[in-house]
Amino acid sequence: MKTSKLPSIKKADFKKIRNDFPLIVNTLVRGKKLIYLNNAATTQKPQVVIDAINNYYEKENSNANRGADYLSEQLTIKCEQTRQKIKLYLNARFTEEIVFTRGTTEAINLVAYSWGFYNLKKGDEIIISEMEHHSNIVPWHIISRLTGAKIRKLAIENDGTIKLDNLKKLLNKNTKLVTIVHVSNVLGTVNNIREICDLAHEQGAYVLTDGAQSSGHMKIDLQELGSDFFTISGHKVYGPTGIGALYIKKEMFDQIHPFHGGGHMIKKVTIEDSNYKDVPDMLEAGTMPLAEIVGLSSALDYVTDIDMENITKWEMELGAYAYDVIRKVRGIKIYGPSLDKKTAIFSFTHDEIHPHDIATVLDYEGIAIRAGHHCTQPLMNRFGIQATARVSLSFYNTKEEIDRFGVALEKAVSFFKK
Ligand code: ALA
Repeated sequence: MKTSKLPSIKKADFKKIRNDFPLIVNTLVRGKKLIYLNNAATTQKPQVVIDAINNYYEKENSNANRGADYLSEQLTIKCEQTRQKIKLYLNARFTEEIVFTRGTTEAINLVAYSWGFYNLKKGDEIIISEMEHHSNIVPWHIISRLTGAKIRKLAIENDGTIKLDNLKKLLNKNTKLVTIVHVSNVLGTVNNIREICDLAHEQGAYVLTDGAQSSGHMKIDLQELGSDFFTISGHKVYGPTGIGALYIKKEMFDQIHPFHGGGHMIKKVTIEDSNYKDVPDMLEAGTMPLAEIVGLSSALDYVTDIDMENITKWEMELGAYAYDVIRKVRGIKIYGPSLDKKTAIFSFTHDEIHPHDIATVLDYEGIAIRAGHHCTQPLMNRFGIQATARVSLSFYNTKEEIDRFGVALEKAVSFFKK
């Protein structure tokens, strides 16, 4: 990503900030200091988030919206404050546009069932990019089978980017949805959501954006991006697992139907029938993951305090450093666009060594990366491969760690090439 306009960072601060993550600074793997380079899978948690969750169970545990007592009231207020924080974090227009979900996968399934199932029919088309995670493909296959809507593929270029001309060719009056990731979990590609939204909206189609890999690494401005649906996962923004959020543009509310049925989402229930509250309550049936909402609240405060622009700038400096280290290793091919079009995620293969073997050798050195298809089999097919090894960075990583990773990668290559 281009970061030239961003404010300068105080590097010393990031060295200090690293100490906020107990797992990062304290963990030894077979006697070696852990180097955690699998941040696209999940981010580690700062002490304040761990403390917030502990404090919740020690002092705040109750059930939101389900009691007139002090604890319940306080918790209900805290949950609504968290909704407000997410609204500010994403720069949405209205707090009610934010729905709590258990993460991005659930958020996309929610859109598929609560919007797609009710609004799509035979002859309609859903455009899905070739770089989507399975969580943004499989729900649409299910909805396609249920409604008769057709799936169309938005092909990607060799450098892992999307050509807007390809989208223009696919869009037509039957297109109802373009569903696309903001940042690819494999290539790091940052898609131009603003222009994709403009093109889709011109044809009367809506846009769902999977923000799981962008929301912890760059400033999100939904009013600028223009998406009709946008998802985040708490555990990728330094918060707990099991919590996330779905943004639904207010103009979409009258097309949205219930997702799960249960407590809290109803206005009135008789044995014969029930009717429902408005969004977001209609979409939040049952007891929500309350400790996780409290943890997410603390995580958003934490990253906001560091300042997302600082985070982006430092991660991109680390990314440029890592890119140089990886590309110097003999036989390595890196997938994805140039650094100005991506985040600090690097997927690579070696011309003779399987990615799983690379990951296994690195693990012996205490270095955590991910290897596999990364839940993106269509993307792997596009490049004619089964798997990649993937390094994904966070602001708590250091250049010293990247150097150690480089040495271990060289070692892995010479080990298998003997
Ligand atoms: N989607 C996450 C990843 O890419 C789990 O690793």
